[in-house]
Amino acid sequence: MMHSKTVLVTGGAGYIGSHTVVELINAGYNPIILDDFRNSKSWIIDRIAQITKVTPTCHQVDCQDEGAVMEVVKNYPNAIGLIHFAADKAVGESIQKPVQYYQNNIGSLCVILKAMKSFGIKHLVFSSSCTVYGEADTAVVTEESPVKAATSPYGDTKITCEKIIRYNSNAHDNFGATLLRYFNPIGAHPSGLIGELPQGVPNNLMPYITQTAKGIREKLTVFGSDYNTPDGTNIRDYIHVMDLAKAHVKALQFLNNTACKESVTINLGTGKGTSVLEIINAFENVNQLKLNYEIGPRRVGDVEQIYANSERAKKLLGWTCEYSLNEALKHSWEWEKGIDN
Ligand code: WQD
Repeated sequence: MMHSKTVLVTGGAGYIGSHTVVELINAGYNPIILDDFRNSKSWIIDRIAQITKVTPTCHQVDCQDEGAVMEVVKNYPNAIGLIHFAADKAVGESIQKPVQYYQNNIGSLCVILKAMKSFGIKHLVFSSSCTVYGEADTAVVTEESPVKAATSPYGDTKITCEKIIRYNSNAHDNFGATLLRYFNPIGAHPSGLIGELPQGVPNNLMPYITQTAKGIREKLTVFGSDYNTPDGTNIRDYIHVMDLAKAHVKALQFLNNTACKESVTINLGTGKGTSVLEIINAFENVNQLKLNYEIGPRRVGDVEQIYANSERAKKLLGWTCEYSLNEALKHSWEWEKGIDN
């Protein structure tokens, strides 16, 4: 039946969303994108078609607009699930624009949950973040590690959205969700046709590195080298976006195969910590170039080190990372070189 493989994907033209749409198509699903292109470009849809030879249906819609979302979702009453990426996601920006972040990230989730209930869509895959752990007590975190008080409106919206989804599972006996806590997504599709498209000056390390290598940015500033780590710089868990995308397909299958009726939190990381200087050195080596960088002051709000214990993803989803860090650094650079800035 047409709808038996239909999956709604909000934010499906975005960085992680577009890679997930590619993997959904490759797995035989029929992804339906809902995106208003505020943080993505419509030509990404054409790139997805170039990669998969399938052009996904795309509805240009703001997920805060309940009427517009209902008008779209009513066409897919038998969708087997919904993957919700659409949200604002820059930590720094959220401090400048808290109301926008709460209104969009929480408002759009509530609209999505109402639409799912109205049209009998039972399974939600939600895009959460390791940010919810804050300054964790240990460098390696499991899903049972305490959720700390948020250090930004962005982080607080992720904590709040997780709570809303859990309460929604408790309130409805036919709703199940996976709350996927991403660590640090990097890399791009090996074809070089899709990747990260940051708007304006990048907040995140990887796009800043590739834009510096390309000459768009004069130099990279390493935010602090006096941390209590082997080389003094922060440690993170950098995961290839393709591995992240594959995990979303596995999460959807988990929900369907187990007829899950609760909210399951799952870390998505490599389980390995890498420092900023190690990233820089590896990027230079794998791409045979020198990066212009200097050590500067710490960035307010940065945690010293955090990386994932991802045993639950392996156990529940049968998922482990396939791509190496060097492949991610190579793919990021290949993608950057192809962008017409
Ligand atoms: C990584 C490391 C910086 C830029 C955030 C969000 C998280 C997720 C990923 C959405 C840190 C250092 C960075 C630069 C630097 N986003 N850095 N110079 O802060 O770990 O996580 O993005 O889900 O939720 O919190 O990622 O890439 O900003 O920083 O030295 O110009 O790189 O200090 O140690 P972060 P990041």
